Amino acid sequence: MSEQTTTRTPSTGEPALLLRGVDVSYSTQLTRVPVLSGVDLAVSRGEFVVLAGPSGSGKSTLLRVLALVARPTSGSVQVFGRDVTRAGNPELRRLRSRQVTLVYQNPGDNLFDYLSVAENLRARAQLAGRDDPGPALLERMGLGGTGTWPTQALSGGQQQRLALACAVGAGTDVVLADEPTSQLDQRSAELVVETLTQLHELGVTLVVASHDPRLLGLGPRVVRIRDGRLHPGVEKEGTA
Ligand SMILES: Nc1ncnc2c1ncn2[C@@H]1O[C@H](COP(=O)(O)OP(=O)(O)OP(=O)(O)O)[C@@H](O)[C@H]1O
Ligand SMILES: [Mg+2]
Repeated sequence: MSEQTTTRTPSTGEPALLLRGVDVSYSTQLTRVPVLSGVDLAVSRGEFVVLAGPSGSGKSTLLRVLALVARPTSGSVQVFGRDVTRAGNPELRRLRSRQVTLVYQNPGDNLFDYLSVAENLRARAQLAGRDDPGPALLERMGLGGTGTWPTQALSGGQQQRLALACAVGAGTDVVLADEPTSQLDQRSAELVVETLTQLHELGVTLVVASHDPRLLGLGPRVVRIRDGRLHPGVEKEGTA
């Protein structure tokens, strides 16, 4: 691990992510549909959180707010103690390049399919103003020897691991992943879980939407969501 890839945002004692009173609603022609209601959530630095809840409960929406991809209708969002609720789009883009990576459920959505594996890693690092992490990172992430491959030559699990490797190469402090094992076979899912464990050990703050018992078995903090509301009272009770 080079010095560069282990450098994290200096600690100020603030949570990595803090949501206060977050509502998200969508307007249709006739009405407003609430999707998240009054969400308060603090995620500490280096914490591993699994977000569990039924289909349609708002997991992906909540991850998009945490990832600064969607803005709340009301409430506030802080990243490492900075209120970014009203930050402009260039600032949010900068934070998404350098501090917060969202890994989407569909492996193909996380990569540039016109670039090779190594070029994806380099491009993602450059976006964050960092040097190319090179083949050593691919090796560490179990993707050694794939550098020249087109991304379509990777399995879904390998694509998800490359997306996670890109976040490491970019040095982002926070990784949010939306059901990253749900489209994978058992062995690929296990390897993705291993990679998430590696990121946790590197000090990355993780929030992962999932029902995967392999992830829940790692003993993360489990936050439950139902009908757009968090249920903090039962958040540590184990499986979904
Ligand atoms: N752009 C949108 N416009 C209107 N409604 C939306 C929009 N995006 C999401 N919703 C609604 O918000 C609710 C929560 O959706 P979300 O995708 O966050 O749930 P989820 O928990 O991730 O579900 P799943 O487990 O199926 O992925 C759903 O009822 C969905 O239909
Ligand atoms: Mg979802």
